[in-house]
Amino acid sequence: MKNIAVIGSGTMGNGIAHVFAQTKYKVRLIDISQEQLDKGMAIISKNLDRMVTKEKITAAVRQMTLDNITAHTTLDAAAESDLVIEAATENEKIKLSIFKELDALCGPDTILASNTSSIPISKIAAVTNRPGKVIGMHFMNPVPIMKLVEVINGKETSSATSATVMELSRNLQKSPVEVNDFPGFVANRILMPMINEAIISLQEGVAGVMEIDSVMKIGMAHPMGPLHLADFIGLDVCLSIMEVLHDGLSNDKYAPSPVLIELVKAGDLGVKSGQGFYRYERGSKELIVSDRFAKN
Ligand SMILES: NC(=O)c1ccc[n+]([C@@H]2O[C@H](COP(=O)([O-])OP(=O)(O)OC[C@H]3O[C@@H](n4cnc5c(N)ncnc54)[C@H](O)[C@@H]3O)[C@@H](O)[C@H]2O)c1
Repeated sequence: MKNIAVIGSGTMGNGIAHVFAQTKYKVRLIDISQEQLDKGMAIISKNLDRMVTKEKITAAVRQMTLDNITAHTTLDAAAESDLVIEAATENEKIKLSIFKELDALCGPDTILASNTSSIPISKIAAVTNRPGKVIGMHFMNPVPIMKLVEVINGKETSSATSATVMELSRNLQKSPVEVNDFPGFVANRILMPMINEAIISLQEGVAGVMEIDSVMKIGMAHPMGPLHLADFIGLDVCLSIMEVLHDGLSNDKYAPSPVLIELVKAGDLGVKSGQGFYRYERGSKELIVSDRFAKN
């Protein structure tokens, strides 16, 4: 494999493009928005600068990585790729239409992968004429740092496709793990109910925000407490994944906490909106519990 296309230049897409380009693949980064492409390239450049400063890579590797990426605004730039990784907005209609178009554009040997957090890989594969070559590659945020890639086999993903993607992920210095196509896969099926339970504990008054996070940090050696992590992921994203688990697994143990629903309705989405369980102020690293949950 030589030529990779990454669809979507948001949080995940620019990270995925970075990692492939630094491993000497030629990457075409594609987004419908030129502004998002510019932003994505600026983030890659900034992250590379930081790596040079920390002496993790040389200035020559930084330059090679940037030279390996070209930015495009139309999907036909993906036509010559050996592998396409779709990391566009988490919306089923958008993803299905991208895969339909990619299937028509790309050669029969191209593997089409999705970075989706919650849409079934088999459903995506079904809109193509190559279900054996459709697979999930679920990277974690931030992509250049996090080692895990959940490799998701759809019902019809061929073993050759899985083997290729596992090997490719190892080439990126990642640690891929193969899982099957169930709602939430493994990472979100286990992580999100834990976050939801932390919110229910808060709602029932078991403990405050800081205390719940401290128990998990100190007691379970989690680098970040579940409520703080939820703010980072985005409470809207947490809610939508809980809804996928609740609907997909038909079990009320996955029902999203009313407090989570309320926060999303109020626009308190965590770090991205400036407030969730904590309040985020520019330039400040101090953790301050948001007014809604602050104790008197
Ligand atoms: N953010 C995370 O922590 C995380 C973690 C793992 C997986 N994911 C998954 O990765 C995917 C991307 O998430 P994100 O957080 O990077 O989203 P994002 O909103 O930061 O970026 C999405 C990008 O897709 C672009 N886009 C929308 N429609 C498009 C189209 N038709 N063609 C090309 N580009 C299009 C948007 O312009 C935007 O730049 C989602 O499927 C999400 O579930 C996200």
